[in-house]
Amino acid sequence: MEITRIKGKVFGAVVTGVDLNDLTGEEFGTIHRAFLEHGFLVFPGQNLNEEQSAAFGERFGPLEFGGAAMSNMKKDKNGTLGGIYDFDTQMMRTNIGNETWHTDSTYKPVSSKCAMLSAVIVPDEGGGTELADARAGYAALDQATKDRIEHLSAYHSTQYSQANDIGDFPPISEAGAYGSVYHGEAYLRPLVKLHPETGVKNLFVGRHAFGIPGLSRSESRELIRHLMDVIVSDESRTYLHMWTPGDTMIWDNRSVLHRARPYDYAKPRYLIGTRIAGDDTELSYWPTDPEAEAGRQALSAELAILREEAKDRLYGATTATR
Ligand SMILES: [Fe+2]
Repeated sequence: MEITRIKGKVFGAVVTGVDLNDLTGEEFGTIHRAFLEHGFLVFPGQNLNEEQSAAFGERFGPLEFGGAAMSNMKKDKNGTLGGIYDFDTQMMRTNIGNETWHTDSTYKPVSSKCAMLSAVIVPDEGGGTELADARAGYAALDQATKDRIEHLSAYHSTQYSQANDIGDFPPISEAGAYGSVYHGEAYLRPLVKLHPETGVKNLFVGRHAFGIPGLSRSESRELIRHLMDVIVSDESRTYLHMWTPGDTMIWDNRSVLHRARPYDYAKPRYLIGTRIAGDDTELSYWPTDPEAEAGRQALSAELAILREEAKDRLYGATTATR
């Protein structure tokens, strides 16, 4: 197995000379250590299918989901890929929302450990996945900013980010595909995240973060934007992966941010997604806990403001009809 750092970048490595379908415990140990050190790993030419993607993911821990379609293509009950989703569907709104920097599942009670994508069908142009090193971003802050944010937290909600980024107002779902996504809750998480395995601090920000308690709305927005800008302000801290079918990439959601990149949405794009659940250290609180009430109130107040503010954004403060 060969692990090669990515040139000119402070994070990431390419792993070759290994078959992810046929790993010894020792090989997985090497991969896991490299994953913690580098923040993300690219494995070219693996051609994992849905089951193999889930099986490799499970080596990192229990899954949030495994072998799921991350795609603009409709899939029938037999798993056959069909037509392309219309731009106005909730599926495409959700996909396009993910073109802004984020960490997966910070809008759930337990935030994700890591996420993996495997490319099957990719467009000729665009449609890459970009990553940003939130550890190097934190390290680049001046001491006054580090001191200021040390004990601050922000709420996380994907109803907030959909509204704020693209003017999309998904209805609250109690079940189904969006039941764990658009649920009316907002979860409080520290801005400075101490990585549970490496002990390295990083900035836990991104599109879902809003409403820092103790700050005004404008101060909170300004600070979250500033911290995000610092992370991506140096190109050694970002890496754009342009997919080749067969590639698998896995990143640490506890230290690395990511975003999807745009493409011609009329062209097919199909990636297999597997997301590994966070452990106890990633729990904010449960919706039944008393703390959850403040999150719900912060979110509904924020959405009321965005109903007006987001009218000029991509989806014009509307709700998808399909
Ligand atoms: Fe994501």
